Amino acid sequence: MPVEICPFKDTFGAEVQGLDLSRDISDADFKIWSDAFETHAVLVFHDQRFTIDQHIAFSRRFGDLEDFPDPKDQVNGIPCVIRVSNIDKYTGDIKPVEDIGHKSFTLGTSAWHTDSTFRRVPSKASLLYAVEVPPVGGDTLFANMAMAYEALSEDKKAQIEKLIAVHDFEVTRRRHSLPPRPKAVQEAVPPVRQPLVRPLEDGRKALVIGSHVDHIEGMDAEESQELLDWLTDWATQPRFVYRHEWEVGDLVMWDNRCTMHRAGSYDLAHHRRLLHRTTVAGDGPLI
Ligand SMILES: [Fe+2]
Repeated sequence: MPVEICPFKDTFGAEVQGLDLSRDISDADFKIWSDAFETHAVLVFHDQRFTIDQHIAFSRRFGDLEDFPDPKDQVNGIPCVIRVSNIDKYTGDIKPVEDIGHKSFTLGTSAWHTDSTFRRVPSKASLLYAVEVPPVGGDTLFANMAMAYEALSEDKKAQIEKLIAVHDFEVTRRRHSLPPRPKAVQEAVPPVRQPLVRPLEDGRKALVIGSHVDHIEGMDAEESQELLDWLTDWATQPRFVYRHEWEVGDLVMWDNRCTMHRAGSYDLAHHRRLLHRTTVAGDGPLI
């Protein structure tokens, strides 16, 4: 069966058909996949069954993978595969909703963000695979930051063109009144400066915002927050958003260079949700 790319009708993104991710992927098929990723920003594969090694192998064809140092976040002790879940890794039970680590993760992922913008080299792509999904809710929403940038007025583009934002992973925790992480952990990932507008390889530009942003340089806190809120509201209008309703066996791959995403709510206390994610590192710092 030939590989087919089927763009979504009402918004951006596309479904990839005819590719079985548990088999070796030829160079020709990989090129179709890779070209579609560059074009559509979000790709959906349905009905996939593959091993964790295969998940790592096809992710690596897009570049080096980021590691996650905390063993409780890792799948099978593998640092480059992270669990996105409300299920305790060790007991297999649903975690208490008030568990601090769990709360921080859930609150963090429910806000609009782009994976790893708090790293000096922000990531290129994430590949998220659904192992268990709740019967209702738990969708993931994606906003296309290149489309959102392109639709801005020329005045607004000129206003934000040269601005720099400081991203800091601690900010998300502070916003949700969670205790700070240990000093050594904080020091390993210090605050970083990122441009508010990044160029893309195809000549377009994209907004770089999201919940990891602490403030915009050269503005007072109120002015900075006002602009960030405005840009977030702008970029997350329905015309720029794709909502993915998960089914077991879905793999969704998205471009972190030109999208933000957030998790929709679900019954955390009663419904199980487990997804595995690999994250492809970016090519270099933006500044
Ligand atoms: Fe995320």
